[in-house]
Amino acid sequence: MRVVPFHRPLFGEEEIAAVTAALRSGWWTSGPRVLEFERRCADRLGGGEALAVASGTDALELMLRAQGIGPGDEVITVALTFVATVEVILRVGARAVLVDVEEASGCIDPDAVAAAIGPRTRAILAVHLGGRPCRMRDLEALARARGLLLLDDAAHAFETVSDLGKVGAVGDGSAFSFYANKNLACGEGGLLRLADPEARARARLMRLHGMDRDAHARGDGRGYRGYDIVMPGMKANMADLVAALGLAQLDRLDAMTERRRAIVARYDQALAGLEQLEPPDRPATGHAWHLYAPRVRAGGADDRDALIDALARRGIGCSVHYRPLHLMTGLAPRLDRPVGSLPRSESIGARSFSLPLHPALADDEVEQVVEALEAALRERRR
Ligand SMILES: Cc1ncc(COP(=O)(O)O)c(C=O)c1O
Repeated sequence: MRVVPFHRPLFGEEEIAAVTAALRSGWWTSGPRVLEFERRCADRLGGGEALAVASGTDALELMLRAQGIGPGDEVITVALTFVATVEVILRVGARAVLVDVEEASGCIDPDAVAAAIGPRTRAILAVHLGGRPCRMRDLEALARARGLLLLDDAAHAFETVSDLGKVGAVGDGSAFSFYANKNLACGEGGLLRLADPEARARARLMRLHGMDRDAHARGDGRGYRGYDIVMPGMKANMADLVAALGLAQLDRLDAMTERRRAIVARYDQALAGLEQLEPPDRPATGHAWHLYAPRVRAGGADDRDALIDALARRGIGCSVHYRPLHLMTGLAPRLDRPVGSLPRSESIGARSFSLPLHPALADDEVEQVVEALEAALRERRR
Protein backbone atom coordinates (compact mmCIF):
# COMPACT_ATOMS: atom_id res chain seq x y z
CA MET A 1 0.00 0.00 0.00
CA ARG A 2 1.29 3.43 -0.89
CA VAL A 3 1.61 5.84 2.03
CA VAL A 4 0.46 9.45 1.64
CA PRO A 5 2.35 11.31 4.36
CA PHE A 6 0.81 14.20 6.26
CA HIS A 7 3.66 16.31 4.99
CA ARG A 8 6.53 16.01 2.52
CA PRO A 9 8.73 18.98 1.56
CA LEU A 10 8.71 20.22 -2.02
CA PHE A 11 12.16 21.09 -3.33
CA GLY A 12 14.31 20.67 -6.40
CA GLU A 13 17.70 21.42 -7.85
CA GLU A 14 17.18 25.12 -7.12
CA GLU A 15 17.13 24.52 -3.35
CA ILE A 16 20.11 22.16 -3.56
CA ALA A 17 22.08 24.74 -5.58
CA ALA A 18 21.12 27.59 -3.24
CA VAL A 19 22.18 25.76 -0.08
CA THR A 20 25.34 24.46 -1.74
CA ALA A 21 26.29 27.99 -2.83
CA ALA A 22 25.77 29.26 0.74
CA LEU A 23 27.91 26.41 2.04
CA ARG A 24 30.66 27.12 -0.48
CA SER A 25 30.57 30.85 0.22
CA GLY A 26 31.98 30.12 3.67
CA TRP A 27 29.40 32.46 5.23
CA TRP A 28 27.26 30.10 7.28
CA THR A 29 25.78 32.29 10.02
CA SER A 30 23.67 35.46 9.56
CA GLY A 31 24.95 37.36 6.55
CA PRO A 32 24.00 38.59 3.10
CA ARG A 33 21.43 35.84 2.44
CA VAL A 34 19.57 36.64 5.63
CA LEU A 35 19.47 40.32 4.63
CA GLU A 36 18.10 39.40 1.21
CA PHE A 37 15.57 36.99 2.71
CA GLU A 38 14.35 39.72 5.09
CA ARG A 39 14.04 42.19 2.23
CA ARG A 40 12.09 39.80 0.04
CA CYS A 41 9.77 38.70 2.85
CA ALA A 42 9.12 42.34 3.79
CA ASP A 43 8.30 43.16 0.15
CA ARG A 44 5.74 40.36 0.10
CA LEU A 45 4.22 41.64 3.32
CA GLY A 46 3.76 45.20 2.04
CA GLY A 47 7.13 46.87 2.54
CA GLY A 48 9.02 48.12 5.59
CA GLU A 49 11.31 45.92 7.62
CA ALA A 50 11.21 42.31 8.75
CA LEU A 51 13.51 40.47 11.12
CA ALA A 52 14.49 36.89 10.28
CA VAL A 53 14.94 34.67 13.31
CA ALA A 54 15.74 31.07 14.16
CA SER A 55 12.14 29.91 14.70
CA GLY A 56 8.54 31.01 14.95
CA THR A 57 8.77 30.47 18.69
CA ASP A 58 11.69 32.93 18.85
CA ALA A 59 9.72 35.43 16.73
CA LEU A 60 6.84 35.21 19.24
CA GLU A 61 9.08 35.58 22.28
CA LEU A 62 11.03 38.45 20.76
CA MET A 63 7.76 40.17 19.83
CA LEU A 64 6.62 40.11 23.47
CA ARG A 65 10.01 41.05 24.92
CA ALA A 66 10.52 43.92 22.45
CA GLN A 67 7.17 45.34 23.58
CA GLY A 68 8.29 45.11 27.19
CA ILE A 69 5.64 42.51 28.10
CA GLY A 70 6.63 40.65 31.27
CA PRO A 71 5.73 39.98 34.90
CA GLY A 72 2.49 41.64 35.98
CA ASP A 73 1.13 41.77 32.44
CA GLU A 74 -1.64 39.71 30.87
CA VAL A 75 -1.90 38.59 27.27
CA ILE A 76 -5.22 37.35 25.92
CA THR A 77 -5.01 34.43 23.51
CA VAL A 78 -6.58 31.05 22.69
CA ALA A 79 -6.16 27.47 23.88
CA LEU A 80 -6.80 26.04 20.39
CA THR A 81 -3.24 26.58 19.17
CA PHE A 82 0.26 25.15 19.17
CA VAL A 83 1.99 25.18 22.54
CA ALA A 84 4.46 27.91 21.48
CA THR A 85 1.76 30.62 21.50
CA VAL A 86 1.18 30.21 25.22
CA GLU A 87 4.65 28.96 26.16
CA VAL A 88 6.27 32.30 25.23
CA ILE A 89 3.75 34.29 27.29
CA LEU A 90 4.64 32.17 30.31
CA ARG A 91 8.35 32.33 29.53
CA VAL A 92 8.46 36.14 29.60
CA GLY A 93 6.73 35.98 33.00
CA ALA A 94 3.32 37.27 31.90
CA ARG A 95 -0.06 35.61 32.49
CA ALA A 96 -1.81 33.88 29.59
CA VAL A 97 -5.55 34.60 29.71
CA LEU A 98 -7.23 32.05 27.47
CA VAL A 99 -10.53 32.81 25.76
CA ASP A 100 -12.75 30.73 23.51
CA VAL A 101 -12.80 30.67 19.73
CA GLU A 102 -15.66 31.21 17.32
CA GLU A 103 -17.49 28.04 16.36
CA ALA A 104 -17.21 28.36 12.59
CA SER A 105 -13.67 29.68 12.18
CA GLY A 106 -11.87 28.22 15.19
CA CYS A 107 -10.26 31.66 15.57
CA ILE A 108 -10.29 33.94 18.62
CA ASP A 109 -13.73 35.35 19.48
CA PRO A 110 -13.58 39.18 19.73
CA ASP A 111 -16.55 39.21 22.15
CA ALA A 112 -14.76 36.79 24.46
CA VAL A 113 -11.66 39.01 24.25
CA ALA A 114 -13.71 42.08 25.22
CA ALA A 115 -15.06 40.25 28.26
CA ALA A 116 -11.59 39.15 29.38
CA ILE A 117 -9.88 42.58 29.30
CA GLY A 118 -8.76 43.71 32.74
CA PRO A 119 -6.46 46.36 34.23
CA ARG A 120 -3.36 44.23 33.59
CA THR A 121 -4.12 43.32 29.96
CA ARG A 122 -1.36 44.50 27.64
CA ALA A 123 -1.98 42.64 24.42
CA ILE A 124 -4.27 40.45 22.33
CA LEU A 125 -2.39 37.62 20.62
CA ALA A 126 -4.55 36.30 17.77
CA VAL A 127 -3.80 33.00 16.00
CA HIS A 128 -4.81 32.59 12.35
CA LEU A 129 -5.66 28.91 12.72
CA GLY A 130 -4.55 26.91 9.71
CA GLY A 131 -4.04 30.12 7.72
CA ARG A 132 -7.68 31.21 8.17
CA PRO A 133 -7.71 34.93 9.12
CA CYS A 134 -9.02 36.13 12.48
CA ARG A 135 -11.46 39.05 12.59
CA MET A 136 -8.68 41.62 12.68
CA ARG A 137 -10.93 44.66 12.09
CA ASP A 138 -12.95 43.95 15.25
CA LEU A 139 -9.86 43.03 17.22
CA GLU A 140 -8.09 46.21 16.18
CA ALA A 141 -11.09 48.37 17.13
CA LEU A 142 -11.07 46.68 20.53
CA ALA A 143 -7.33 47.09 20.96
CA ARG A 144 -7.44 50.79 20.04
CA ALA A 145 -10.42 51.51 22.29
CA ARG A 146 -8.81 49.79 25.28
CA GLY A 147 -5.18 50.85 24.70
CA LEU A 148 -3.90 47.33 23.98
CA LEU A 149 -1.39 45.95 21.52
CA LEU A 150 -2.79 43.77 18.73
CA LEU A 151 -0.28 41.02 18.00
CA ASP A 152 -0.69 37.91 15.90
CA ASP A 153 0.76 34.44 15.84
CA ALA A 154 1.03 34.22 12.07
CA ALA A 155 2.84 30.86 12.05
CA HIS A 156 0.22 29.49 9.62
CA ALA A 157 -0.47 32.76 7.88
CA PHE A 158 2.23 33.76 5.41
CA GLU A 159 0.02 35.02 2.54
CA THR A 160 -3.17 35.19 4.65
CA VAL A 161 -5.26 38.30 3.98
CA SER A 162 -7.49 39.50 6.83
CA ASP A 163 -10.43 41.92 6.71
CA LEU A 164 -7.92 44.62 7.64
CA GLY A 165 -5.29 43.72 5.04
CA LYS A 166 -2.44 41.31 4.62
CA VAL A 167 -1.31 39.55 7.78
CA GLY A 168 2.08 41.02 8.67
CA ALA A 169 1.06 44.47 7.44
CA VAL A 170 -1.68 45.06 10.04
CA GLY A 171 -1.74 45.27 13.83
CA ASP A 172 1.28 45.97 16.05
CA GLY A 173 3.29 42.83 15.44
CA SER A 174 3.23 39.48 13.63
CA ALA A 175 5.31 36.36 14.18
CA PHE A 176 5.71 33.91 11.28
CA SER A 177 7.15 30.37 11.30
CA PHE A 178 9.11 28.70 8.52
CA TYR A 179 9.15 25.30 10.24
CA ALA A 180 9.53 22.38 7.81
CA ASN A 181 5.80 21.92 7.09
CA LYS A 182 4.77 25.57 6.85
CA ASN A 183 3.53 27.21 3.62
CA LEU A 184 6.91 28.93 3.30
CA ALA A 185 9.47 26.61 4.87
CA CYS A 186 13.19 26.49 5.44
CA GLY A 187 13.45 23.67 7.99
CA GLU A 188 13.54 25.87 11.06
CA GLY A 189 13.09 29.63 10.94
CA GLY A 190 10.81 32.54 11.66
CA LEU A 191 10.14 36.17 10.90
CA LEU A 192 9.06 39.08 13.03
CA ARG A 193 7.24 42.22 11.94
CA LEU A 194 6.77 45.09 14.37
CA ALA A 195 4.95 48.32 13.51
CA ASP A 196 6.63 50.48 16.15
CA PRO A 197 10.17 51.49 15.07
CA GLU A 198 11.43 51.57 18.66
CA ALA A 199 10.14 48.07 19.41
CA ARG A 200 11.69 46.95 16.13
CA ALA A 201 15.06 48.42 17.08
CA ARG A 202 14.88 46.62 20.45
CA ALA A 203 13.97 43.34 18.75
CA ARG A 204 16.87 43.72 16.35
CA LEU A 205 19.26 44.06 19.29
CA MET A 206 17.67 41.36 21.42
CA ARG A 207 17.73 38.89 18.54
CA LEU A 208 21.48 38.48 19.05
CA HIS A 209 22.38 38.83 22.72
CA GLY A 210 21.63 42.57 22.83
CA MET A 211 24.90 43.07 20.94
CA ASP A 212 25.13 46.29 18.97
CA ARG A 213 27.14 44.71 16.11
CA ASP A 214 26.42 41.28 14.63
CA ALA A 215 28.95 39.04 12.88
CA HIS A 216 28.09 40.50 9.49
CA ALA A 217 28.56 44.07 10.73
CA ARG A 218 31.82 43.07 12.36
CA GLY A 219 33.08 42.22 8.89
CA ASP A 220 33.11 45.92 7.95
CA GLY A 221 36.73 46.52 8.99
CA ARG A 222 36.19 47.74 12.53
CA GLY A 223 36.16 44.14 13.75
CA TYR A 224 35.25 43.68 17.39
CA ARG A 225 36.37 47.19 18.35
CA GLY A 226 33.72 49.05 20.24
CA TYR A 227 31.00 46.39 20.38
CA ASP A 228 28.67 46.67 23.34
CA ILE A 229 25.90 44.64 24.98
CA VAL A 230 23.19 47.25 25.29
CA MET A 231 20.48 45.02 26.81
CA PRO A 232 19.99 41.37 27.74
CA GLY A 233 18.92 39.45 24.69
CA MET A 234 18.36 36.05 23.10
CA LYS A 235 20.21 33.87 20.62
CA ALA A 236 17.62 33.91 17.88
CA ASN A 237 19.34 34.90 14.64
CA MET A 238 18.74 33.02 11.38
CA ALA A 239 21.70 31.40 9.60
CA ASP A 240 22.59 32.12 5.96
CA LEU A 241 22.40 28.38 5.22
CA VAL A 242 18.76 28.50 6.27
CA ALA A 243 18.02 31.77 4.47
CA ALA A 244 19.41 30.25 1.26
CA LEU A 245 16.72 27.56 1.42
CA GLY A 246 14.09 30.16 2.29
CA LEU A 247 15.03 32.29 -0.73
CA ALA A 248 14.67 29.33 -3.09
CA GLN A 249 11.31 28.45 -1.52
CA LEU A 250 10.14 32.06 -1.90
CA ASP A 251 10.66 31.66 -5.66
CA ARG A 252 8.16 28.79 -5.56
CA LEU A 253 5.66 30.32 -3.17
CA ASP A 254 3.03 31.41 -5.70
CA ALA A 255 3.05 28.02 -7.40
CA MET A 256 2.89 26.24 -4.03
CA THR A 257 -0.07 28.39 -2.92
CA GLU A 258 -1.86 27.64 -6.18
CA ARG A 259 -1.31 23.91 -5.68
CA ARG A 260 -2.69 24.11 -2.13
CA ARG A 261 -5.82 25.83 -3.48
CA ALA A 262 -6.32 23.15 -6.14
CA ILE A 263 -6.12 20.38 -3.51
CA VAL A 264 -8.55 22.30 -1.28
CA ALA A 265 -11.01 22.54 -4.19
CA ARG A 266 -10.85 18.75 -4.65
CA TYR A 267 -11.33 18.10 -0.92
CA ASP A 268 -14.27 20.55 -0.86
CA GLN A 269 -15.90 18.70 -3.73
CA ALA A 270 -15.44 15.37 -1.96
CA LEU A 271 -16.75 16.68 1.37
CA ALA A 272 -19.89 18.02 -0.28
CA GLY A 273 -20.98 14.38 -0.56
CA LEU A 274 -19.93 13.28 2.92
CA GLU A 275 -22.62 14.36 5.37
CA GLN A 276 -20.78 12.92 8.37
CA LEU A 277 -18.16 15.65 8.04
CA GLU A 278 -18.31 19.41 8.42
CA PRO A 279 -16.03 21.15 5.90
CA PRO A 280 -13.77 24.05 6.95
CA ASP A 281 -15.55 27.41 6.89
CA ARG A 282 -14.81 30.07 4.27
CA PRO A 283 -13.50 33.49 5.26
CA ALA A 284 -14.47 36.47 3.12
CA THR A 285 -10.78 37.25 2.58
CA GLY A 286 -7.68 35.23 1.77
CA HIS A 287 -7.08 31.87 3.42
CA ALA A 288 -3.44 30.69 3.16
CA TRP A 289 -4.60 27.06 3.43
CA HIS A 290 -1.84 25.85 5.68
CA LEU A 291 -4.29 23.26 7.03
CA TYR A 292 -7.45 21.59 5.74
CA ALA A 293 -9.26 20.47 8.88
CA PRO A 294 -12.79 19.07 8.59
CA ARG A 295 -14.74 18.14 11.72
CA VAL A 296 -16.65 15.00 12.54
CA ARG A 297 -20.25 16.18 12.97
CA ALA A 298 -21.38 13.82 15.67
CA GLY A 299 -19.44 12.10 18.40
CA GLY A 300 -16.28 13.11 20.17
CA ALA A 301 -12.55 12.54 20.24
CA ASP A 302 -12.91 8.74 20.22
CA ASP A 303 -14.88 8.84 16.95
CA ARG A 304 -12.45 11.29 15.43
CA ASP A 305 -9.47 9.21 16.55
CA ALA A 306 -11.10 6.05 15.16
CA LEU A 307 -11.48 7.82 11.81
CA ILE A 308 -7.80 8.89 11.88
CA ASP A 309 -6.86 5.26 12.63
CA ALA A 310 -9.05 4.03 9.75
CA LEU A 311 -7.31 6.51 7.43
CA ALA A 312 -3.89 5.41 8.72
CA ARG A 313 -4.81 1.79 7.87
CA ARG A 314 -5.33 3.03 4.32
CA GLY A 315 -1.94 4.75 4.28
CA ILE A 316 -3.14 8.31 4.91
CA GLY A 317 -1.24 10.42 7.44
CA CYS A 318 -3.46 12.87 9.34
CA SER A 319 -2.88 15.18 12.27
CA VAL A 320 -4.84 17.08 14.94
CA HIS A 321 -4.69 20.88 15.28
CA TYR A 322 -5.05 21.12 18.20
CA ARG A 323 -5.68 19.47 21.54
CA PRO A 324 -6.53 22.63 23.53
CA LEU A 325 -3.68 23.76 25.76
CA HIS A 326 -5.71 24.15 28.97
CA LEU A 327 -6.19 20.36 28.87
CA MET A 328 -2.43 19.68 28.86
CA THR A 329 -1.26 18.36 32.20
CA GLY A 330 1.93 20.44 32.33
CA LEU A 331 0.17 23.70 31.47
CA ALA A 332 -3.23 23.37 33.19
CA PRO A 333 -1.99 24.49 36.63
CA ARG A 334 -0.75 27.77 35.13
CA LEU A 335 -3.74 28.48 32.92
CA ASP A 336 -6.66 28.45 35.33
CA ARG A 337 -9.18 27.17 32.79
CA PRO A 338 -10.79 23.94 33.97
CA VAL A 339 -12.19 21.34 31.61
CA GLY A 340 -15.48 22.66 30.23
CA SER A 341 -14.52 26.34 30.49
CA LEU A 342 -13.72 26.77 26.79
CA PRO A 343 -16.48 24.64 25.23
CA ARG A 344 -16.03 25.61 21.59
CA SER A 345 -12.25 25.07 21.69
CA GLU A 346 -12.82 21.71 23.39
CA SER A 347 -15.44 20.62 20.89
CA ILE A 348 -13.33 21.60 17.88
CA GLY A 349 -10.25 20.03 19.48
CA ALA A 350 -12.18 16.75 19.84
CA ARG A 351 -13.82 16.69 16.41
CA SER A 352 -11.34 18.13 13.91
CA PHE A 353 -8.58 16.37 12.03
CA SER A 354 -6.18 17.68 9.38
CA LEU A 355 -5.83 15.95 6.02
CA PRO A 356 -2.57 15.97 4.04
CA LEU A 357 -2.32 19.36 2.31
CA HIS A 358 1.06 20.13 0.84
CA PRO A 359 2.15 21.16 -2.64
CA ALA A 360 4.21 18.00 -3.18
CA LEU A 361 0.99 15.91 -3.23
CA ALA A 362 0.37 14.38 -6.64
CA ASP A 363 -3.16 14.16 -8.09
CA ASP A 364 -3.33 10.41 -7.56
CA GLU A 365 -2.31 10.86 -3.93
CA VAL A 366 -5.13 13.37 -3.45
CA GLU A 367 -7.52 10.80 -4.98
CA GLN A 368 -6.17 8.17 -2.59
CA VAL A 369 -6.97 10.49 0.34
CA VAL A 370 -10.51 11.07 -0.96
CA GLU A 371 -11.15 7.36 -1.56
CA ALA A 372 -9.76 6.46 1.86
CA LEU A 373 -11.98 9.05 3.50
CA GLU A 374 -15.09 7.77 1.70
CA ALA A 375 -14.26 4.17 2.60
CA ALA A 376 -13.45 4.97 6.24
CA LEU A 377 -16.74 6.86 6.63
CA ARG A 378 -18.71 4.01 5.04
CA GLU A 379 -17.08 1.65 7.54
CA ARG A 380 -17.93 4.06 10.39
CA ARG A 381 -21.63 4.08 9.42
CA ARG A 382 -21.89 0.33 9.72
C1 LIG B 1 0.39 28.29 15.75
C2 LIG B 1 1.87 28.13 15.90
N1 LIG B 1 2.55 29.04 16.61
C3 LIG B 1 3.88 28.97 16.75
C4 LIG B 1 4.62 27.95 16.20
C5 LIG B 1 6.08 27.87 16.47
O1 LIG B 1 6.86 27.92 15.32
P1 LIG B 1 8.28 27.19 15.26
O2 LIG B 1 8.04 25.72 15.23
O3 LIG B 1 8.88 27.73 14.01
O4 LIG B 1 9.04 27.61 16.47
C6 LIG B 1 3.96 26.98 15.44
C7 LIG B 1 4.73 25.89 14.81
O5 LIG B 1 4.31 24.83 14.53
C8 LIG B 1 2.55 27.07 15.28
O6 LIG B 1 1.88 26.15 14.59
